[in-house]
Amino acid sequence: MKRCLAVPAAAAGILILVYPAVNLATGGEGGSAPFGAFRESDFERPQTCRQCHIDIYEQWSQSMMSQAYTHHWDEIEYFDLALEHVKRDPSLEDAVAGCNGCHTPLMWITGTKTPPRPEAGSRANESVSCDICHTITARTGDPSVNFNYVHSPGRVKYANREGVVSPHHETAKNDFVSTAPYCGICHNEKNPYGIWVKSTELEWAEGPYNAQGVQCHACHMPKAPGRNANTARKEHPDVAQHLFHGAHDPGKVGGSIEMRMHPGERELEPGDRAVIKVQLFNGKCGHKVPSGSAEERQLWLRVTAVDSEGREFHLPVDRKGFEGEDETITSNIPAYQDIGFMRGDPSFAGIPRDSLPEGDRIFCLPYFDKEGRRTIAQWNTASLGTDYRIGPRETKIETYTWALPDDIAPGRVTVRATLNYRRLVASVAGLLKVPADETEIVKVNDAETWFEVVD
Ligand code: HEC
Ligand code: HEC
Ligand code: HEC
Ligand code: HEC
Ligand code: HEC
Repeated sequence: MKRCLAVPAAAAGILILVYPAVNLATGGEGGSAPFGAFRESDFERPQTCRQCHIDIYEQWSQSMMSQAYTHHWDEIEYFDLALEHVKRDPSLEDAVAGCNGCHTPLMWITGTKTPPRPEAGSRANESVSCDICHTITARTGDPSVNFNYVHSPGRVKYANREGVVSPHHETAKNDFVSTAPYCGICHNEKNPYGIWVKSTELEWAEGPYNAQGVQCHACHMPKAPGRNANTARKEHPDVAQHLFHGAHDPGKVGGSIEMRMHPGERELEPGDRAVIKVQLFNGKCGHKVPSGSAEERQLWLRVTAVDSEGREFHLPVDRKGFEGEDETITSNIPAYQDIGFMRGDPSFAGIPRDSLPEGDRIFCLPYFDKEGRRTIAQWNTASLGTDYRIGPRETKIETYTWALPDDIAPGRVTVRATLNYRRLVASVAGLLKVPADETEIVKVNDAETWFEVVD
């Protein structure tokens, strides 16, 4: 009975009826995988795979895939925010158990609702493991969402090659594994309010990379010649590197948006208006930037000018006048008040929204709770604001109109734009005691231009 999931995709819909256990609100577009359909012993440990797949194991162990359950911020958000919230609103129990469907799938499919903390050293710590990914054969519905994977655990490991031989297991080629919708199983998320709170694969699907057949793998699992196992009989010209590099890799984030800027006039007098335009081109990402956990990522453009005597001026961005624009200009008004309810502190008045100097453009997708306040909790998101992120191959232009002060020094004015990225809002990190590395500021790019002040 426990084994009956080991069947082709076509039968998967029926199996949902066999195991009507916990179900997330997915709006009818494919249910999450059955809760508790397997035993832990049905899945091998990553350490076992390491015996032969050393390079791949070491790559994986440095990526966030191997830390999706143990990483400090994941532990804090799950245990100190989401589970605390469930204590005060038990209707969220299933949705919060669903965190594990993506962050430690073994726990979900073997029926552990609340695994112990990482320090207990349970198998939950395997996070998104080798055997979890290599026993996925299909999904239960279209689109991919909320861990709607179908597992066929056992001797056969499914991946991209036909007819390769292993002493430890059988192998099978499964074309689904090599497609973006495979990644979308965990990289698209719909919450209990029916809101798409994560849509990396959907963003990709409607963009230029899908149209050209470029899958996620091309950028996050690039191919190189070599052996994929130290016991492999021969080399392949195209071994998939398990890098999964993203938000936590400054080298991946850096340069992902390209920038140029120019003034409208090269010669101006004190009191004139300088008009400076900045072009931002997303030339390297298959999806929007930021993507994924957009509720907590920050991408902001800071523009400053320095006159010939070294006086520095901060230039606020020109407003474009679109609906919801206030959310896209840095501000420190109180936000995230819902954390008070989650943690049983009704007097909590909120914390600064962006923890950044005000007036800068911030490319974001704002998440709101049911009272219309900004939230950092994707499970508590009742609506989304205007999506002002930079889409794949999109170019955004920001304008800075600056009335030159009467006492500006004559000579060259240098104008500089810096695009910065931060994984987590600093005020949230401070409140929840998330270690400082999560709020590290990464420079994505910068650009410079000039004009002359003449008398
Ligand atoms: C005793 C050595 C050994 C162990 C242990 C081992 N493998 Fe393999 N594996 C191999 C060899 C050899 C190949 C074939 C390499 C080739 O020729 O391309 C292979 C191939 C694969 C493939 C490619 C399949 C395909 O069709 O593209 C996957 C996926 C895979 N292994 C996953 C795993 C996982 C997951 C584990 C741990 C649960 C594991 N392996 C443990 C030796 C091993
Ligand atoms: C997030 C899912 C995921 C995880 C985790 C994962 N893999 Fe893979 N693996 C893939 C995908 C996808 C491919 C196929 C890549 C392609 O088609 O471009 C692959 C390919 C492989 C291959 C064949 C590589 C080749 O091109 O010859 C081996 C071997 C393999 N994985 C072993 C492992 C081992 C061992 C681990 C754990 C240390 C692991 N994988 C973890 C998704 C995963
Ligand atoms: C079984 C679920 C699952 C599947 C399948 C999956 N991922 Fe992930 N992935 C995750 C989780 C969970 C995280 C977040 C880890 C964390 O907590 O930071 C993640 C994180 C990432 C990151 C971000 C790493 C960082 O530095 O922040 C990248 C890039 C990524 N995955 C790419 C892929 C690609 C490409 C595929 C398909 C080949 C894929 N994932 C398939 C669950 C999955
Ligand atoms: C053309 C190359 C390309 C393709 C295709 C691509 N990515 Fe990315 N991805 C990037 C780059 C570059 C970054 C780093 C910049 C950033 O954070 O957006 C990134 C970042 C990410 C992140 C971290 C996002 C964040 O801000 O937290 C995730 C998760 C991710 N990618 C998953 C995926 C998945 C899943 C797919 C397929 C549906 C995919 N990527 C397709 C290039 C690509
Ligand atoms: C549908 C799959 C899915 C579900 C369900 C899910 N997550 Fe995630 N989570 C991801 C992926 C994928 C990422 C990485 C996205 C990125 O890099 O931007 C992520 C990122 C995160 C991060 C940021 C990690 C970092 O290091 O920056 C935290 C914290 C987190 N999730 C906690 C949770 C909690 C708590 C829940 C349940 C309330 C949950 N997740 C539910 C897939 C999921």
